[in-house]
Amino acid sequence: MIDIRDTTFYYNAPQEDEEDAGRRPALSHISLNIVPGEFVAFLGRNGSGKSSLSRLLNGIELPTEGTVSVEGHVTSDKAALRSVRRAVQIVFQNPENQQVGITVGEDISFGLSNIGWPQHDIADRVAWAIKLVGLDADEDRPVMNLSGGEKQKLALAAVLALAPRYLILDEATSMLDPVARRQFVATLHEVRKQYSFTLIYITHHLEEVTNADRWVLFQSGKVVTSGTPDELMENTGLLQSCGLELPYYRTLAGLLREQGIPVSAALNERELRELLCKSG
Ligand SMILES: Nc1ncnc2c1ncn2[C@@H]1O[C@H](COP(=O)(O)OP(=O)(O)OP(=O)(O)O)[C@@H](O)[C@H]1O
Ligand SMILES: [Mg+2]
Repeated sequence: MIDIRDTTFYYNAPQEDEEDAGRRPALSHISLNIVPGEFVAFLGRNGSGKSSLSRLLNGIELPTEGTVSVEGHVTSDKAALRSVRRAVQIVFQNPENQQVGITVGEDISFGLSNIGWPQHDIADRVAWAIKLVGLDADEDRPVMNLSGGEKQKLALAAVLALAPRYLILDEATSMLDPVARRQFVATLHEVRKQYSFTLIYITHHLEEVTNADRWVLFQSGKVVTSGTPDELMENTGLLQSCGLELPYYRTLAGLLREQGIPVSAALNERELRELLCKSG
């Protein structure tokens, strides 16, 4: 479990003898648990603190106040940091910032060597990771020849090879076109069927996370609320105040209901399509 307890975080904390000088924390008094196997979405407008919290979860940053612990290891304990960083992996927006190898194989094996994966097992592990994410490229393929969607799959393969128990995807699809984005999300869920890990998914696209177990809404460095997607999609006012737009099919379903057409509140995209086809 990840346990975030009354955590406040400043990028530049005021020193004890210093005036606060109007500095605002990036995160303020956050308390949250993330349980193993969960699929949680962190949602909120730009600057609301989603990426900052994810950096605290794998110990890239440490809380100014409060604690973050991963499976009982407090991130501020230097001796535990290695296992925290190993357990919690992050894929960022721009895959190129994470790619270190010239070829696909080098890129994946780099991280494995770094964590001391047994040398004789690395080749098998690289092949396993490539297959797991459905990357249609052999190990010798130069990374620079991959498409954006393939590069993002490679970034996913490289972190999954390390066997994380918690995977954070921080706007990992935002550089992709809508088709590649859908493919990437589909791949991710396929992968989760074969290899289970806790998923923390950060996005501005609610339609990517309608199947999450829980949404956590951020506003100005605070967690406003958390709940199931169905619960929170009912509260359009709250979503709007957090800068979030309902998926178009939910908005359309709401409009149909206002017109007295009986449409389920939990309508999904496929059901709406079927309904429209029938009525046509
Ligand atoms: N490296 C940094 N140094 C100083 N302040 C930062 C840094 N990164 C973020 N901040 C500030 O911390 C606050 C939270 O930012 P954060 O990047 O966590 O938000 P976010 O929810 O991830 O936003 P986005 O949706 O744009 O990615 C903002 O006020 C931001 O300006
Ligand atoms: Mg961010």
